[in-house]
Amino acid sequence: MTGVGDRQPPFGAPLDARGDRAGGRLGRPGGEARLTECVGRKEGARAGTMGSPTLVLGIETSCDETAAAVVTEQGAVLSSVVSSQAALHATYGGVVPEIASRRHLELVAPVVRRALEEAETTLDQVDRVAVTQGPGLVGALLVGLSAAKGIAWAGRLPLVPVDHLEGHVASLYLGPEPLEPPFLCLLASGGHTLLLAVRERGRSERLGTTLDDAAGEAFDKGARLLGLGYPGGAEIDRVAEEGDRAAFPFPVARVPGLDFSFSGLKTALLYAVRELGEDEARRRHSDLAASYQHAIVRALTSRLREGAAQTGLERLAVVGGVSANSALRAALPDVHFAPLDLCTDNAAMIASAARYVQPLPYPSYLGLDAYASAA
Ligand code: KG4
Ligand code: ZN
Repeated sequence: MTGVGDRQPPFGAPLDARGDRAGGRLGRPGGEARLTECVGRKEGARAGTMGSPTLVLGIETSCDETAAAVVTEQGAVLSSVVSSQAALHATYGGVVPEIASRRHLELVAPVVRRALEEAETTLDQVDRVAVTQGPGLVGALLVGLSAAKGIAWAGRLPLVPVDHLEGHVASLYLGPEPLEPPFLCLLASGGHTLLLAVRERGRSERLGTTLDDAAGEAFDKGARLLGLGYPGGAEIDRVAEEGDRAAFPFPVARVPGLDFSFSGLKTALLYAVRELGEDEARRRHSDLAASYQHAIVRALTSRLREGAAQTGLERLAVVGGVSANSALRAALPDVHFAPLDLCTDNAAMIASAARYVQPLPYPSYLGLDAYASAA
């Protein structure tokens, strides 16, 4: 494995004895690790803006995306770089934590450097560093957290530890048309399915959660049963386009309150596949995918509507990886969705959420630890 920046300073010009930065321009990315499947996003370069906006550098490494972004205090995304490791984990049908940590280690410095470059800025101009503290894979989180501490320490900057789930909600506060609380938010990702009452930015009240699998997990496990690739959600979404969603009457679990359950649905798909036999299941995999997806979409949309009726919250939103699903988006035309590139894990949402969290002053954050599970 290649090291991070052993021949050149990893994030820019060298520091002098006091820790002040001597130069300013960054070295070009590359060198120690290649960026694969890198997706950039840019809403407006820093150059040419009035004055000098406050800049937040965000870092996200909670699962299998290594991401960095530069966001202004006003919520403009100057850059958002995401390097997905999906191809690396596809062979195993899911994320292998040890492989994820090692890859984050290779990618975090080049991804941060690329994010600064695309924002046409340097670390000298960054005002604070935001990083995902949890929930997620602890080994993966620690890579981002350590990198963020190092960058913040070197620049004598404050550090903002961000909860990944608050990050997903804060994806709604970015861009030209941010959503204003109060609103009801469905967070559906690979690890969580939550119904949240968001009454003000940075604070949400949990109204419901999944009793077993998360919605994204149901997509991933369903895709595996259908012999589709990883990550499964996007694959089911693609294959389902050609299928008949009414072909198989998959059940929607009845759970009390505003909670969710997807494990019964997964079992129903398993039985359907077994009953059809391998060849027939393969022949009808678009019908199976469309019907399975339809059941997940029904479960999510009905809970969201029930939550709206119970709370009286009129504005509705969906965030998290599953909010990229085309059938879900089509089923909820009146609901607010983040742009597609901010649905799955990214660092712009982490920088966005950091705007509503008290920053920790230098150097009090050096002892911060990562956490695996949601509180
Ligand atoms: O938010 P996210 O990127 O990571 C977590 O925080 O977990 O969500 C990843 C999840 C995966 O389970 C993936 O299969 C699902 O989001 N996903 C989708 C789609 N794109 C990603 N699910 C359904 N349809 C999609 N188009
Ligand atoms: Zn996520």
